[in-house]
Amino acid sequence: MKLNDVLDWILEATQSPPPKPMPAFPKIVEKKCTGCGICQKECAALIIEMRDGMPFIARGIDCVECGHCVSVCPTGAIQDPLAMRTDNRPYKFEDFPSSKSLQLLFRARRSVRKYKDKPLSRPVLEKILDAGRYAPTGGNRPDVHYIVVTSPEEIEWLRGAVLEGALTMFRKLQKLAKPASLFMGSETLDTFNYYIPILEDWQDRWNKMGDDRLFYNAPALMMVHGKKWDEIVGFGNAVSLYQASLMAQTLKVGCCFNGFLQIIPNFDAKVRKRLEIPKQHKCYGAMSLGYENQKFRRTVRRRPPNVVWR
Ligand SMILES: Cc1cc2nc3c(=O)[nH]c(=O)nc-3n(C[C@H](O)[C@H](O)[C@H](O)COP(=O)(O)O)c2cc1C
Repeated sequence: MKLNDVLDWILEATQSPPPKPMPAFPKIVEKKCTGCGICQKECAALIIEMRDGMPFIARGIDCVECGHCVSVCPTGAIQDPLAMRTDNRPYKFEDFPSSKSLQLLFRARRSVRKYKDKPLSRPVLEKILDAGRYAPTGGNRPDVHYIVVTSPEEIEWLRGAVLEGALTMFRKLQKLAKPASLFMGSETLDTFNYYIPILEDWQDRWNKMGDDRLFYNAPALMMVHGKKWDEIVGFGNAVSLYQASLMAQTLKVGCCFNGFLQIIPNFDAKVRKRLEIPKQHKCYGAMSLGYENQKFRRTVRRRPPNVVWR
């Protein structure tokens, strides 16, 4: 962690938060309401009170706009003021993908490292992004900002800058890890010793043969970023990107998460600036995407989970 980062953090932590905007809390349509009280019991923010046998929005300011009241109401008496026509669609459990088909998606999805030389259209990318916005986020406050890169020039720039940035960072850290390994063990040093020749090889392959081991010649990259120093925001970003990646699979669009593209903007000011990621943000996930140019035919083995039952 750099001194600048620590100062930023102190500055941020000591600033008073911006005034809270008024949420778009739900409206109760009295003539449809039977007073069953299910909405009041379901409300996680405890903003609904029962008054004279009818629900009443007592503290709209604290509404988190989760929509549970709209979702549980048996008579459709609760309306979300911002909902579009298709937002509040009734559904049945039977409409869900079965556990078998979901399990197959989880088992059959693969990190795709061979892409067709075919661009992804805007509507396809929008469908993938749309899956991300339905992911759960802490307090239903999705501090998830997407970057979608499809310009070949921009991808080329990023490829060079991320490889160079990763090598510079790992070489610096390798120097620090050498003396530290004498009393902390060699695990960290081993990691840098492992990755540096790999990254050098990738740079070489790209420069000499156009063999792209970083993005695999993908026609698109997708990244997510949100507020720094907030692990809950970090988890929300990761879940959103993963949800988007699963939707991609159902559209025959392959993805591969990319640890280098994720971490380098957080360390290299040049890359962060080019991507216009604000200083107070951190990149929490990145992936390459494109139409699959590899046919996977069977599911694969995985290790059993590390789990403690208590
Ligand atoms: C956070 C994260 C970062 C990853 N970074 C890379 C990467 O930089 N390059 C790559 O080829 N694969 C990357 N992967 C993909 C993993 O290597 C892959 O998930 C793993 O080998 C299992 O294969 P599967 O995804 O096909 O099941 C990453 C995966 C995750 C979750």
